[in-house]
Amino acid sequence: MTLTDPVKSVTLLSVSKVICSFSLLCIATADDAAFMSKLAKALTPTPSGWSATSFCSWTGVDCSANRVISINIASQSLTGTLPPDLNSLSHLTSLYLQGNALYGALPSLAYLSMLESVYLDGNNFTSIPDGCFQGLTNLQSLSMTDSINLAPWAIPTDLTQSSNLVKLDLGNANLVGTLPDVFDSFVSLQELCLSCNNLTGGLPKTFAGSGIQNLWLNSQKDGFGFSGIIEVLASMTHLSQVWLHKNLFTGPIPDLSNCTTLFDLQLRDNQLTGVVPPSLMSLSSLQNVSLDNNVLQGPVPSFGKGVKVTLNGVNSFCRKDAGPCDSRVTTLLDIAKDFGYSLQLARSWTGNDPCGDWSFVVCAAGKIITVNLAKQNLTGTISPAFANLTDLRNLYLNNNNLGGSIPGGLTTLAQLEVLDVSYNNLSGDVPKFPTKVKFNTAGNALLGHSGGGGGSGTTPSNGSGDAPSGSPNAASGGSSLSPSWIAGIVVIAVFFVAVVVFVFCKCHAKNRHGKVGRVNNLENGKEVVPSFGDENVTMSINFFGK
Ligand SMILES: *[C@@H]1O[C@H](CO)[C@@H](O)[C@H](O)[C@H]1NC(C)=O
Ligand SMILES: *[C@@H]1O[C@H](CO)[C@@H](O)[C@H](O)[C@H]1NC(C)=O
Ligand SMILES: *[C@@H]1O[C@H](CO)[C@@H](O)[C@H](O)[C@H]1NC(C)=O
Ligand SMILES: *[C@@H]1O[C@H](CO)[C@@H](O)[C@H](O)[C@H]1NC(C)=O
Ligand SMILES: *[C@@H]1O[C@H](CO)[C@@H](O)[C@H](O)[C@H]1NC(C)=O
Repeated sequence: MTLTDPVKSVTLLSVSKVICSFSLLCIATADDAAFMSKLAKALTPTPSGWSATSFCSWTGVDCSANRVISINIASQSLTGTLPPDLNSLSHLTSLYLQGNALYGALPSLAYLSMLESVYLDGNNFTSIPDGCFQGLTNLQSLSMTDSINLAPWAIPTDLTQSSNLVKLDLGNANLVGTLPDVFDSFVSLQELCLSCNNLTGGLPKTFAGSGIQNLWLNSQKDGFGFSGIIEVLASMTHLSQVWLHKNLFTGPIPDLSNCTTLFDLQLRDNQLTGVVPPSLMSLSSLQNVSLDNNVLQGPVPSFGKGVKVTLNGVNSFCRKDAGPCDSRVTTLLDIAKDFGYSLQLARSWTGNDPCGDWSFVVCAAGKIITVNLAKQNLTGTISPAFANLTDLRNLYLNNNNLGGSIPGGLTTLAQLEVLDVSYNNLSGDVPKFPTKVKFNTAGNALLGHSGGGGGSGTTPSNGSGDAPSGSPNAASGGSSLSPSWIAGIVVIAVFFVAVVVFVFCKCHAKNRHGKVGRVNNLENGKEVVPSFGDENVTMSINFFGK
């Protein structure tokens, strides 16, 4: 595949656009009039200023060459059900219907390829047809918040064809299901609002590297909501406002030091664990942050003077006041970190005295002698920080799902008597312990095999152990490029086929209508064809200028 292929397709595309607009003009004017008259009848009351004979002079209706390009009837207390063939308005670029009480099924918007802005918020629509958002290749804004009468529906993946999408606002719209992992399709997306729905599941991997600035996923239905870790935020470097409150997120707050424009971080009412990263406290763009009602650990965070912080209901810090934790606590939190700050550890390991009533820890004379974390469904790796528990005699980590290797530093534990790491998924070299240590490594099929990553504690690759050792970076760079090319080519190809089919059908229809259509076609065609490419621009400028 060479670079010239897409260019050729684009040329074909513009040729077909010209043909298309030629053939469209003759018959479509009649279509717009028919639809607009149906629309006027469907709305109660009839919108003010909709009495003139020509729909192009109705208030809120903009035309270009007698085709409807914009309808704005926002906030007029209108009721009624929209006629189903709305997508016959093939030149429509903007549709503003928000703040009415329109009900029934939303008509399909499919293949309105000039459509840029759609605002449907605060109506009474009850359903959205399948494929409603297919082929909206120029869509920039879709807003349908406060649509509480909608039957439960899923985030429409058809929107992946709208690669120009800047703003997707579907808050309080009865959405269910998960966030599809398709955000690599939305290269222009800046605003994603899915607050106040009944969505579940994790944050999609394709959030990584996205240009999203405002991410509002907060306040899903009580007892449900998004879950899993929020690590992907670290690679969303355009974020400015992040509202994740009232969900079921777990794991630590990631290092957000690359999110240099982040000013508003709402994380309250989740199940986040771990130490608040010092990088967050020194993030200079930050203005307000809420951390309330999580299971955060370690020292109480101290933010800069100008930052508005709320921390109510977090009882898991090591102290009530600011200041460092006891060194045993610090070591155990280092250990917990490599288990992904598991929630059950965070719930138990609170306060500043591990020899108090901490689960899984046994002390003698204020010294930790046993750590027993057998059968706790732990994931992650065995922390080298265990080597800092210098009085440790017994360490049970068996029957979990730990990966990585056994840290060599454990051999320096002079008091060690029992080390049980059996039935995990450990790999790499096996350190040599003194013979007095009862060392159980059973049930780790990958342990001690050569080529297990050179023995260093942190080298095992994350789940891609059998990838060829060529150049992983180049490979992933290539794969991030090609999907967009492929998507582009597919969209162009699909559009071209659709245009050919459309022109073919319309020509048949035209032949039946006789010669009148042809005359119009030629007269209007001269004016419209050259300005075809600029039409969208001037239209939307005119609209917003009003
Ligand atoms: C629209 O929905 C609201 C709230 O659900 C309801 O109060 C109102 O009666 C509905 N209006 C129509 C015309 O259906
Ligand atoms: C939310 O969705 C779940 C299924 O994920 C369902 O069991 C629950 O009833 C829904 N809650 C509401 C309030 O709609
Ligand atoms: C966070 O700060 C911004 C600007 O200072 C403000 O507009 C916004 O309402 C604040 N958010 C909350 C939840 O306090
Ligand atoms: C052990 O503790 C010391 C200080 O008490 C610290 O500098 C070191 O990083 C710790 N080692 C590990 C492996 O955490
Ligand atoms: C065990 O670890 C290897 C990598 O070392 C990984 O590919 C595999 O999926 C893991 N198995 C389980 C059951 O987690």
